This record gives sequence, structure tokens and C-alpha cells, in this order.
Amino acid sequence: MGCSLRLPPVPSLAPPAWLADRFECFERPSRLAERVAELLEQELTAAPARPLGLATGRTMEPVYDALVKRLLALSPQRLKALQVGWRSFNLDEYIGLGPTDSGSFALEMSRQLVRPLGLEPGCVRLPDGLAEDPSAEASRYAAAVRAAGGIGLQLLGLGSNGHVGFNEPPCGPEAPCRSVELSAATRSHNAVAFAGNPSRVPAGAITLGLEQILGAERILLVVSGSAKAGILARLLREPPGPSLPASWLQGHPGLHLIVDRAALGG
Ligand code: GLP
Repeated sequence: MGCSLRLPPVPSLAPPAWLADRFECFERPSRLAERVAELLEQELTAAPARPLGLATGRTMEPVYDALVKRLLALSPQRLKALQVGWRSFNLDEYIGLGPTDSGSFALEMSRQLVRPLGLEPGCVRLPDGLAEDPSAEASRYAAAVRAAGGIGLQLLGLGSNGHVGFNEPPCGPEAPCRSVELSAATRSHNAVAFAGNPSRVPAGAITLGLEQILGAERILLVVSGSAKAGILARLLREPPGPSLPASWLQGHPGLHLIVDRAALGG
């Protein structure tokens, strides 16, 4: 903890009013990951009524590493209870990629959580990127989230163009779960998982919409690293609008924003 909220270029000491006290900033990214893992562990061990909403991306890698360490340190009985009770829905998946394809979010989840924690793969749900009809798959996935009662705690990263999930700008607050076309900026940012080649990043994805994300009881938005400083500054300053999809989170009473100093431009 301990960095004040500084927004370049005009320094400000207080977080925006809409965040109230639901804001934490850490000097070191490792402490940020630890804190998010701690909050996830609290949620998971409280046997939540609604499933967890999970995200992928580089921001989440140290978070999941820290979470796995914490959970594997639980007593065998508590770990077993957690394995048996695990219910989660991921935000998104690339169209055309399946659980064995490099770069797929399904494979990422398998590597980061399912295998290390010994979870049943069926408990960690994602849209099926290999579905023949992606729009029908999006409707099926939305119905599955609805049938589970909606999302309890939604973990979110921030796209460098302001997307959450794969809700690319422009995007309204009622956007449903759907298949989308990815922007050049997003394909370029996500190329790391595809040998650095943006043209190998799938052109489309299935994503939960702002409808499902804003329907979560609580939202944990995690922003790390200097590359996100510009978009985070916009999020903290600008009123909600379609050009910045994450800005719709501002109206959510259960939003908790956790950042590191580099993301604040410090
Ligand atoms: C990706 C994912 C998001 C993720 C965000 C940030 O494209 N669809 O769910 O949170 O963009 O990614 P990263 O953490 O790699 O910056």
C-alpha cells in the first residue's frame, strides 16, 4: 500500500468521488498480485452463492501464481472443499481456438489454475472458441451464466484501449454476451501469446458483455504497469461513455480498483 493517487499531468491526492474508499495502490507489482490473490482466496473460501468471474492476460499471471501458492498451502480438507465447490466463468475466448491450442484462454486457464490446483476442467468454464456458430455459443454461454445466478466477484484486467473482457470501444453498458471483432490495437497487444505476430492473433472472440460484467455483485479491476498509465488516467478522469468501455464500471457500487504505482504513472 502507500502510493497516493497521482494522475498525470495534474497531480491529485484524492481518488475520484465515484471510487470512494474502494481503491488500493501498491508500490510493487508483486504486492498487488498478492493482495488480489488474497481477495480471491477470501471469496473462494467463503463458499460464494454465485460463481467467480475470471480473466486472462498478463496482469493475471502473477495473480494466479500467488493464488495457487495460497490455496496449496491450505489444509487438505479445505483444499478439497474448494476443488469440489469451484465454479467459475471466464470472460472470453478467441474464436477458432480450443483448449489444446497455444494462445487460447482455455489452455491458459488449464496451465495457470486447473492443473496446479487439481480442478475438474468442467468447473472452470469458458466460451467454446471452436463452436461452429459463435453467436449461438455466446447465447448459450450467457444462458449458463444466468442459470448460475450471475457472477459473484468479477476479476477484470484493463485493455490498453479501455476494453474489459473483449468489449472493444465503442461499447455501451448494455452490450450482451456476443461474438466480436478484435481491434488492431488489441491484436497487437495480445500478440505476445502468438509468437509476437499480430496477424496470428485470431480476428474474433466471444466475450461476456458489459451486461453480465455490470451484473456481477462485486468487481475487482486490476491495473498494473506503466503501459496502462495513459488508459488508467482516462478512466479516472473521464465520465462514462462508449469510447472507454471500462468507464461504465464507474457506476457499479461494488467496484474495487487495485493498481500499482507504475499504472498510476508514478
Ligand atoms: C485482454 C483480455 C482481457 C484482459 C485485458 C488486459 O485482451 N481479453 O480480459 O484483462 O485484455 O490484458 P493484459 O493483462 O495482458 O494487459
